Amino acid sequence: MLRTHTCLDLDKSDINKKVTLSGWVNKRRDHGSMIFIDLRDRYGITQIVFDPEVSSIAHEKAKILRNEWVISIEGSVVLRKMINKNLKTGAIEISVDQIQILSKSKPSPFSIFEDKTETNEELRLKYRYLDIRRKPILDKLKIRHMAMLETRNFYSEHGFLEVNTPILCKSTPEGARDYLVPSRIYPGNFYALPQSPQIFKQLLMIGGIDRYFQIAPCFRDEDLRADRQPEFTQIDVEMSFDGKEKLFEIVENHLTRVFKKCLDVDIKTPFERMSYTHALEKYGTDKPDLRFSMEFERLDEIAKKSTFSIFLDTLKASNGCIKAINVKGGAEISRKKLDDLTSFVKPFKLKGLSFIKKTDSSLSSSLLKFFTPALLNELEKKLKLEDGDLAIIAADKDDIVNQGLDHLRRKIALDRGLINKNIYKFLWVEEFPLFEYDENEKRLKSVHHPFTAPSIKDLEILEKEPLKVRADAYDLVLNGYEIAGGSQRIFDSDVQSTIFKLLKLSDEDIKRKFGFFIDALKYGTPPHGGIAYGFDRLIMILTNTDNIRDVIAFPKTLKSLDLMLQSPGEVDEDQLKELELETKEIKEIPWENT
Ligand code: AMO
Repeated sequence: MLRTHTCLDLDKSDINKKVTLSGWVNKRRDHGSMIFIDLRDRYGITQIVFDPEVSSIAHEKAKILRNEWVISIEGSVVLRKMINKNLKTGAIEISVDQIQILSKSKPSPFSIFEDKTETNEELRLKYRYLDIRRKPILDKLKIRHMAMLETRNFYSEHGFLEVNTPILCKSTPEGARDYLVPSRIYPGNFYALPQSPQIFKQLLMIGGIDRYFQIAPCFRDEDLRADRQPEFTQIDVEMSFDGKEKLFEIVENHLTRVFKKCLDVDIKTPFERMSYTHALEKYGTDKPDLRFSMEFERLDEIAKKSTFSIFLDTLKASNGCIKAINVKGGAEISRKKLDDLTSFVKPFKLKGLSFIKKTDSSLSSSLLKFFTPALLNELEKKLKLEDGDLAIIAADKDDIVNQGLDHLRRKIALDRGLINKNIYKFLWVEEFPLFEYDENEKRLKSVHHPFTAPSIKDLEILEKEPLKVRADAYDLVLNGYEIAGGSQRIFDSDVQSTIFKLLKLSDEDIKRKFGFFIDALKYGTPPHGGIAYGFDRLIMILTNTDNIRDVIAFPKTLKSLDLMLQSPGEVDEDQLKELELETKEIKEIPWENT
């Protein structure tokens, strides 16, 4: 038997017990006569001690042990002289009388026992199996497991059936690029990996499953970011007959339970709600972080009456707008720091910023000469400027102002320590537009996906003014992250065909891509709708990291590479031949520099 207990099990109540423990050498301290080792396994750490008077053979063997060797020891539980209050096993140690070296280890390329070391991430990803031994990653995987288990239990208890849907399927229109898999049996034909199980879950509703969920792997070949992976996991949910309000209630209850279980935090329900238009107007984004205020105020009406030509010209241009934020206590910010803020917004196409400070009840700014005292008064009121405050004003086309001020608002909150990491601000964003206009392709595109139902209120104008039509769609935002998105679906094949036509899909395209689906809608489709949570993003928030790779056991880099597997990689000529594929040029991946 290699162990009677784990490295977390033993405490004072076990004194004098004979035990066997196995694990990794976490740290070794050789005090000459006595050798101390922190023995580590997934569960914890137990100190073991080699005393030549207890066993000279074991003591001799302990001399050669190095970090990360795997050993098994037998010994007695004894009280420790120096209690370590940081360890659950800190009151005891094992006095070893036998040791077996199970396997040796090369020196680890980075320190494993030291929790705080932040070794360069590429190195950690190359040796991910060692990285997983480190507490920061291990703890996140444990929370991930707990959240997944709680999710399965919650949805099962509420009558949802977990159904697995195919991985080798057909392109679905989520908007990202597909990963394609060539068919060997039918050369020239390809499967696509699912961007999400969207079509399948709707087909499951037509199939009468009524309530479905799945912890589903999804694949999207898109540009990666700190919260995006090419291969990620969704909690995918769909239900018939119950509508949006019931769905919101279920999602809110599920998340309340997950947060309680994983963090022992009580979440307040119902979650706040906001329209897409309001979110953009006040925060410049459809995923506002509500942990801090600094909402945007529109100053068009006031600026119109000024004599400042930049403002006046902006307002004359189409979609021009002027918005401001009030940075509480920001009057102390130095000239140099304000210049830095102006440089910060440049990459977001915002050419400049204007500043107004209020100190000792008076305003200071290079803009003052363009405003009458009455106008300044109006501006002060609108922005609720108090002594010590700083108003930052941006003027440009509304999408540029929104983007620039959104990034600025978040940066200022971070810089000024306004973000409380222990607060969880959930927000439903609703009433998205159904379509957006794609300038490049000169056609309408679905904001979510083409199966999203138009809001009943706007059905009449669907064909006349499609860009004004709102969708029966919603996103769930948490602390500035979009953690879920969904909609009520079209369940009428005529409306579905109209949508495809508005998207300028040819009859042939519709038939080839979704013929089976339009057909399925004609066989008795219940009203249905659903949502998909980005499970990895949820875990990021639960584990307080802003790096999605931290919560995935074997993630890809921002350049979509698996540094451990060295994947993607070349394949044998024979494999290509079998698939009747030829490659024009093979791009070398510089693994050494990744
Ligand atoms: P959507 O495309 O909004 O909706 O995706 C749902 C949620 O999945 C997460 N997500 C991602 N997480 C990590 N890496 C990615 N590359 C990535 N892409 C998306 C986000 C997002 O909110 N089928 C629809 C859902 C529905 O309508 O029911 C869908 O996939 O958190």
